[in-house]
Amino acid sequence: MDQSHITKEGIRIHVREDFAGMRKAGAVASQILDEVGPLVRPGVTTGALDDFITRRVEELGVTSATIGYRGYEHASCISVNHVVCHGIPGDKILADGDILNIDVTVIVDGWYGDSSRMYVAGKASIKARRLIQVTHDALMKGIEAVRPGATFGDIGAAIQTYAEGHGMSVVRDFCGHGLGRVFHAPPNVLHFGRPGKGPVLEEGMFFTIEPMINLGRPETKVLADDWTAVTRDKSLSAQFEHSIGVTANGCEIFTGSDRFFPDLG
Ligand code: MF3
Ligand code: CO
Ligand code: CO
Repeated sequence: MDQSHITKEGIRIHVREDFAGMRKAGAVASQILDEVGPLVRPGVTTGALDDFITRRVEELGVTSATIGYRGYEHASCISVNHVVCHGIPGDKILADGDILNIDVTVIVDGWYGDSSRMYVAGKASIKARRLIQVTHDALMKGIEAVRPGATFGDIGAAIQTYAEGHGMSVVRDFCGHGLGRVFHAPPNVLHFGRPGKGPVLEEGMFFTIEPMINLGRPETKVLADDWTAVTRDKSLSAQFEHSIGVTANGCEIFTGSDRFFPDLG
């Protein structure tokens, strides 16, 4: 990472100082996800959670990456139960046992911090707990595969093997992405694949890993609002997302927190 450049696959190789920028952006996204946790309970609306996130983004003096992004109008995506991703916050009132992903992306000094986690309103069912645990652990299996010389296929294969080994399915229709001074950049980070396939990882690459795992089948559809993606079979879906940077020995997680894994009730 002596000099910033772009690989033949269009992936930016960042330099040491760039890690400091991502560290700060990731920490702000994580802080907001930490802070919203105690507000998640039965009776609250997803819109109220998003209002809190909008307010904290303003108070912290950072910028929401999602407000105004391709016409999206909110500071978070909140995806409840069978919603896979890109759920639009609104009037929906959370009920006891609902599981939800909250996804926040902020821009801090020009750097993008993108993270999402699962939360539970009240007490989760056994099957919901199992889905949340397996999805979290699948993300961590993907992250463990990250080091210079490994491939993006190694990451996808680690996630897929783990999730399918637990009888769950990996969503194919959405993927992780490069990021940095931009929100979405090459490569597409697939959460399934074959070891050894795909671009080779290099120190200085920044990207997200954000597997969406379903209890049922992997197929999704997007609702008429053009954002909300749901499982076609209405099965429960979960997702966790970290922004990471490839280091000499492995990776740095920019969006870590000791509260990343939720209280399951
Ligand atoms: N944060 C999402 C991601 O992980 C993107 C949300 S775009 C929005 O890439 F417009 F739906 F907010
Ligand atoms: Co992302
Ligand atoms: Co995100």
